[in-house]
Parts: sequence; structure tokens; C-alpha cells
Amino acid sequence: MTLTCGVDVGGTKILAAVVDAGGCIVEEVRIASPAGHVEAMIESIAGVVGDLAGRHQIDAVGIGAAGYIDKSRSRVLFAPNIAWRNLDLKAEIEARIDLPVVVENDGNAAAWGEFRFGAGRDVEDMVMVTVGTGVGGGIVINGELVRGAYGVAAEIGHLTVVPDGDLCGCGKRGCLEAYASGTALERRVPGMSGPEITAAARAGDQRCIEAIAGIGRWLGGGLASLAAVLDPGRIVVGGGVAEAGDLLLDPVREAFRTHLTGVGYRPEAEIVSAALGNHAGVIGAADVARS
Ligand code: BGC
Ligand code: NA
Ligand code: ZN
Repeated sequence: MTLTCGVDVGGTKILAAVVDAGGCIVEEVRIASPAGHVEAMIESIAGVVGDLAGRHQIDAVGIGAAGYIDKSRSRVLFAPNIAWRNLDLKAEIEARIDLPVVVENDGNAAAWGEFRFGAGRDVEDMVMVTVGTGVGGGIVINGELVRGAYGVAAEIGHLTVVPDGDLCGCGKRGCLEAYASGTALERRVPGMSGPEITAAARAGDQRCIEAIAGIGRWLGGGLASLAAVLDPGRIVVGGGVAEAGDLLLDPVREAFRTHLTGVGYRPEAEIVSAALGNHAGVIGAADVARS
């Protein structure tokens, strides 16, 4: 079975994995993301991929990157949480490793992974939202990723939820990401990291439980707006913060129903957690490279 390499490049970590055609991970490597440094990011990605390519027979590389990717899946146009602006990431990586590279948005890659191999396997229309450093999104309609006229559709994190609200990493105010990301979660509990907040919440810490619930309520509201437009059959929630499980998802579901138009008189999207967990992005990116 042929192997491809998937890379998930976020504002906090870079995860790279060798994946087979069935979506199974053969080997993975995780490193910290030097998000503020353009060159260091490129070298880190090329480094981990080169490493894996030295140990496995890889045919192609798919990179899921946390930014706006152009329609030709080469260039990062803009990234709210990484110092990349109009960067031809495909060319940069291909110049360093001798393999074909495809660049996809990380939220799209995660959505694709869940659609092909995870929680969206049995539906044709789904929305994925990833809650990490930023809030990412991916939309699958009729079995295909929606990428818009210019490649940058499904930026769910930048739905305006509060006019003139909190400042977002994208430079605008009031985006969903400013209220519902892992970064927003950490702002609610100063001095603790996202994973620490989740662990404390699991152990019963009321303040951390409420902080996660607060993020979840914002998310549920945003997803209700999205459902008004897209009417997805399933909404899959992933990313690091989704590791909180129902501590996050129950408030998401409740707020979703509070805000969903026509609730009670219409079928509702089922809201579930990512079946592939934090690996949805690498698995999806590896599959994008295959097709
Ligand atoms: C970016 C998206 C990305 C998401 C998750 C957002 O801030 O705009 O492109 O998918 O973060 O990393
Ligand atoms: Na996206
Ligand atoms: Zn924004």
C-alpha cells in the first residue's frame, strides 16, 4: 500500500505523520511550532518530512497549514496566528525535499480526514470546526470540500459574533475565534495552559469547567448561524480543546439549540467530537496529497 506524509502546521505545534491509503498512521512526529519565524517554520517542516521520508517510502506530502491557502493549493496568502504572508509554501518545501507537495488549510484537511475516515464517514454534508490556537473550519458538501472562489472559504473562526468586540489575531474585532479558541480559553483562566485547564476541569475544578463551558457557548452560537446557511447533517468538533469531550460539547449543543432558527420544527445537525481526535488534520492532509 502506498504511503503519503501529512503535516498539520498550527500556531503551537507541528505534527507530521506517515499515513497509508486507509487513513492509518504508520509513524508520527510532533515538534513545537516556531510560529513567529517564517524561515524556522519552513526548515522545521522540511526537517520532519525529510526525517520521515528517510525511513519510509513516501509518494507525496500534504501540508495542512493554519492560514488562508490560495486556490492552487500552493501559497499561504495570510495567517492570523503565524508570521506567514503571501508565502509559496509548496515551492519552499519542494525546494528542500524531493517530493510533490500539496498545501491545504488545516481546518479543511481535518474536515477531509473526518469525512473520509472518521465521524463524517456516513454523511455527504458536514461541517468541521477545530478549536485550538485558532478556530478552524472545513465544509464538505455533496462529498466535496468547499473552498470558495479563491480557496479561502470556511473560515468559521472569523465569523463576526460581536460587532466591535474583542480583537482577533486576524486584525478584526469580534470574530468567533476571539471568543471560542484555545487562546480565549487560556485568557479566561490566567496562568494555566489549555491542557492544564482541561485536566483540572476533568478533576472537578468549577472555574475551569465554567471556562470551557463559556467557550462552548460561543461556539454553539456560531455553529447555529452556520447551520442557518449550510444545514449540515453533522457538525464535527475537533482540535486540542475538543479533548475536553462533553465538558465542551454539552454547552456547544445547548447553545446551538438556543440559537438555531426554527428549532423544534426542523431536523437538526448532530454535533459530535472528532473520531480521529487530534490526528484528523494529518490524516486528511495525507489523503489530500494522495488524490
Ligand atoms: C485561521 C484558519 C485556521 C484556523 C485554525 C484561524 O485563525 O484563519 O485559517 O484554519 O485558525 O488553525
Ligand atoms: Na478552512
Ligand atoms: Zn478574525
